[in-house]
Amino acid sequence: MRLGIDFGTTHTVAAVVDRGNYPVVSFDGADTWPSLIAGSVAGKLRFGLDAAAVRHTPGWSVLRSFKRLLDDAGPDTEVTLAGHSYPVPDLLTRFLAQLRSDLHRRSNAGLPKRERVEAAISVPANASSAQRFLTLDAFTQAGFDVVALLNEPSAAGFEYAHRYRSTITAKREYVLIYDLGGGTFDASLLRMTGTLNEVVTSQGIRHLGGDDFDEAIVELVLKNAGLRDIGSDAREAILDECVARKEAMGPNTRRFLVDLSMVDHPTFSCGVDDVYAACAPLVQKTVDALARVLQDPGRDSVLDWAEVAGIYVVGGAGSFPLVSRMLRAAFGDKRVKRSPHPFAATAIGLAGFLDKEAGYTLSERLSRHLGVFREAQAGTDVVFDPILPKDTALPAEGEPPLVVTRSYRAAHNIGRFRFVECSRIIDGRPDGDVTPYAPVLFPFDPDLRADRNLARRPVIRWNAAPDVEERYVISSGGGVEVSLTTRPDGFTRRFRLARGAA
Ligand SMILES: Nc1ncnc2c1ncn2[C@@H]1O[C@H](COP(=O)(O)OP(=O)(O)OP(=O)(O)O)[C@@H](O)[C@H]1O
Ligand SMILES: [Mg+2]
Repeated sequence: MRLGIDFGTTHTVAAVVDRGNYPVVSFDGADTWPSLIAGSVAGKLRFGLDAAAVRHTPGWSVLRSFKRLLDDAGPDTEVTLAGHSYPVPDLLTRFLAQLRSDLHRRSNAGLPKRERVEAAISVPANASSAQRFLTLDAFTQAGFDVVALLNEPSAAGFEYAHRYRSTITAKREYVLIYDLGGGTFDASLLRMTGTLNEVVTSQGIRHLGGDDFDEAIVELVLKNAGLRDIGSDAREAILDECVARKEAMGPNTRRFLVDLSMVDHPTFSCGVDDVYAACAPLVQKTVDALARVLQDPGRDSVLDWAEVAGIYVVGGAGSFPLVSRMLRAAFGDKRVKRSPHPFAATAIGLAGFLDKEAGYTLSERLSRHLGVFREAQAGTDVVFDPILPKDTALPAEGEPPLVVTRSYRAAHNIGRFRFVECSRIIDGRPDGDVTPYAPVLFPFDPDLRADRNLARRPVIRWNAAPDVEERYVISSGGGVEVSLTTRPDGFTRRFRLARGAA
């Protein structure tokens, strides 16, 4: 069976490849599987639907939005749930293993127990190389056969292509995907020609989504209702209520009411304009990111609006009425189109991509810069060497990886490599959204090769240091593997970039 699986901050959604259609899998009658993990004081864990079922049961705590932990997570990162610590990568693997089991036991996918699942999966466009590997490994360990890893907005582009191909003409072949989910915002400019979707450029904000609207709204309610110093359980209950009220808002809603009976307080009421004012700075950030995409479409000139077929709004938080309102104010009425499946667009697009008969192909780009800090001027200065610039074209699925090499004469006994990913480079330095990786240490001195604790050794200049080759191997999914080799003896070490201490 072939499935597109979108692991989201709030919902996980699967769509099947079924003779040219991509129906969304329903679990116990619902089109989404909750991205929740519940832990009990006794140390038990529940995932997805089972976690939602114990949400309000005493003795259980619920971890929501745990996808947000992944961009800062390393192999050893732990999270505490109901007084117990769990490694984040293990939690994700167990969560996905439960999804695999629920696809078989509780869904309409008709998946036999042992049948192989070929999955196309996705990560936010802005995800770091570490998040890509972590997600990929967890899916694989959970029993999925991952055949493609796409950026979420690129996947949603296939849902658009599947549904609205006729709006694309030779004069208007660009579509701007606006993906506002529970935890992340991504904007990608795609050029669609025939069955090829080509990513021109992407902009993302890793921590911006419906969760942040919820926080802004809870703060507004607590402040105006005069509720201070309430416990975390009471705050959680009010948050749940605010989320439900937010999701019930429509373009004609005038007042915003929140039942506060759980804290023995009268119902809170305010005009919707107050709610919009609290959320407007968040939406403005997305509008600014879209504007940046249009100004910097990876070519010499600013993209002419006449060439854009539309802005395609996907993701649940795109249904917040303020979003359409501000997008229309900034970009015009006719440009903004909402997906009929805001929650499922990514999963449907992933399934479309897997459908060999549909023949879609994707030309993807690296969504962030990768570089390394190096010593210069005989060790007195540190410079940033941008190895792979943002928007570097990635190989297509099934093509050989992209390989970039650097060769030079080493100058020290130990190489200390501080890799960084970032969304911008300003004045030669990483800027914007920056992910620093744990330093990588490499013994240039052959006598240090057996040393397990290079971090404790002093780094000294060494005239007899060998020649070195750095080799960067970039997969179609945007993950980067680095290998370092000394020449001429060919001593090599290979590693993936990871967060955490050295
Ligand atoms: N009608 C609505 N109005 C406003 N917000 C909504 C509405 N329906 C859902 N949401 C919000 O959409 C978010 C979930 O959207 P979605 O399922 O697309 O996110 P996700 O894919 O899980 O997250 P991400 O893509 O960021 O990882 C939640 O914050 C939810 O409150
Ligand atoms: Mg999403």
